[in-house]
This record gives sequence, structure tokens and C-alpha cells, in this order.
Amino acid sequence: LDPSMNLFEAIEDLKKEKNAVLLAHYYQEPDIQDVADFIGDSLGLAQQAAKTNADVIVFAGVHFMAETAKILNPSKKVLLPDLKAGCSLADSAPAGLFKAYKYRYPDHLVVSYINCSAEIKALSDIICTSSNAVSIIDSIPKDQAIIFAPDKNLGAFLNKQTGRNMRLWDGACMVHEIFSLEKITKLKIRNPKAKLIAHPECEDVILKIADFVGSTTQLLKFAVTDNCNEFIVATETGILHQMQKDAPFKTFIPAPPNNSCACNDCPHMKLNTLEKLYLCMKYELPEINMVEDLRLAALKPMNRMMDISR
Ligand code: 13P
Ligand code: SF4
Repeated sequence: LDPSMNLFEAIEDLKKEKNAVLLAHYYQEPDIQDVADFIGDSLGLAQQAAKTNADVIVFAGVHFMAETAKILNPSKKVLLPDLKAGCSLADSAPAGLFKAYKYRYPDHLVVSYINCSAEIKALSDIICTSSNAVSIIDSIPKDQAIIFAPDKNLGAFLNKQTGRNMRLWDGACMVHEIFSLEKITKLKIRNPKAKLIAHPECEDVILKIADFVGSTTQLLKFAVTDNCNEFIVATETGILHQMQKDAPFKTFIPAPPNNSCACNDCPHMKLNTLEKLYLCMKYELPEINMVEDLRLAALKPMNRMMDISR
């Protein structure tokens, strides 16, 4: 690439030329968020992908998100800047193992968090995201046994919120398991006015002391509208960009991780760069494709969720 090239302008030109829409998750690097047409949480992005009139959906996020866009809108070309942008949580539920697990509990309904592969979606009865999980679970009769996959932390949080005893698959997100209770507690003592806001993929010990728990969009909304001016943010650091943009006079402190060598960046999300985004739009590669049988099987539980979350 010519180093003098203005990638922002080049990406805007490609959007027009190809009638492409650029969807980005809050965990993307700030430059990508700034050039996106829509930034959102998993539910918001899925809704945008389902309703777009664009010919091309460029998904600045991870593989399961781009796959979800293809499941919902198969006639569109779906591009992902780096095919290796996976998800540790989605990887923690391999389809073969999950299928065997599900067959051990034939009377259970399967509710899966959207952070999973198309194969896991196809084995599920209904999908949820962090923003609609409580209402999705509340829509199921109380006496119905449920398997919840793949996130055990979100599952445990939902069990508490809904008064259920769902059977939890043993998966987790590498970013949200990294936070240190001890260091957050010390930070709170040093910043007594700061509120701790956390994503429900965090461990129970963190969620227990949080002032607010929600999806990325819900955390952003809370941080911007709440009358508090200081927040400790227990989720991936990408969200701080929008928080700071929407509330420039407030202070946002990333929650400290256990190991000082570690950071709260998602290595999968951060594989996407502005350069890769430009190249992917120019050459229309890598593209997400899926066999139709799998897509249709994954669409069924997705549609159940979309109907409830309209
Ligand atoms: P939401 O943006 O839907 O809260 O999801 C967070 C996440 O971990 C996405 O990978
Ligand atoms: Fe997956 Fe966690 Fe990264 Fe989200 S933050 S994409 S759940 S590894």
C-alpha cells in the first residue's frame, strides 16, 4: 500500500463504488469505528445486517459475527477483513463435543449465546445476545429444562437473574476472565466516586461488585447517561473510544487485569486493521460462505431470537 494514501477516503470511496455497508463492533480499533456506518453490540449489528439494502456487508468484527450476517442475509456478499479473527468463546464449544453433550439431555431446550459457530447455532433451539438474554430466557416456560452454551459466566449470571437452573456448557471468553478482583477493589478505594460497569461475560466475583452489568451498547448508554462522572470499565478496551467520544468530560478507566503483562484487548478483534479493511473491500475478499443446509438450520434459532427482539 502507498503509505501516503488516505485510507479513510479510500474506504469511503469503495463503500460508494460497491454499495457496501460497513458494520463494526465496539471492540474494533478506533480508526475502524470512526469509518464505520454502524457501530453496535452483537444484537444491533445482527439487526443491521438483516435489514440492509447494501449489496456488500463488510463486517469489522470476528468470524461468528460475519457468519451471523450471512445466515440472516444470504443474498449479500459478506466480507471479513481477516478470516483468522476468531473468538475464544466460540472456540470453546466444538460442534462434535456439543452434539454429544446435547444428546445426553434429550428433554433440554438449547439456548445459545450468539458468540458461537454456525454449527452450534444449528444445534440450538434459540439464540440470545448479552442484551436480550433475560427476555429470551423468560419467554421459555419455567418448568422447561435448558442447556445454556457456550459461556458459563453469562449462564451463571442469567441463572441468578431469571431464577433458573440452566445446565451450563463450560466455555468462557479469554478477555472477560482476565480481570482482577483485588486490583479492581484497590482501584475503587482510590477512586471512591467511580462506578464499576461490567460485561456479563465477566466472572461472578466481578459481576457481584459491579454497579451495572450489560452488553456493550448498554454499558455505553449507562456510562453516558448516568450522573456519575467516573467509571471503571470491565470489558474489552475498544468500547472506551465511544464512551470518551460521547462523554468527553467523563473519566473511563479500563479495569485492571490479573497479570500486569496482560491487557484487556481482544487479540481476535484487534486482528482487523484499517489496511486490511481497505484491501478486503477493494478485492472483495475474504468472503464468508456457508452451505445452504447449515445456513437454514442456523437461521431457525436466529429467527426465534430476532422475532422476540424486534
Ligand atoms: P456484545 O457487544 O453483544 O455485548 O458482545 C460482546 C462480545 O464479547 C462480543 O464478542
Ligand atoms: Fe470472543 Fe471474547 Fe473476543 Fe468477544 S472479546 S470476540 S467473546 S474472545
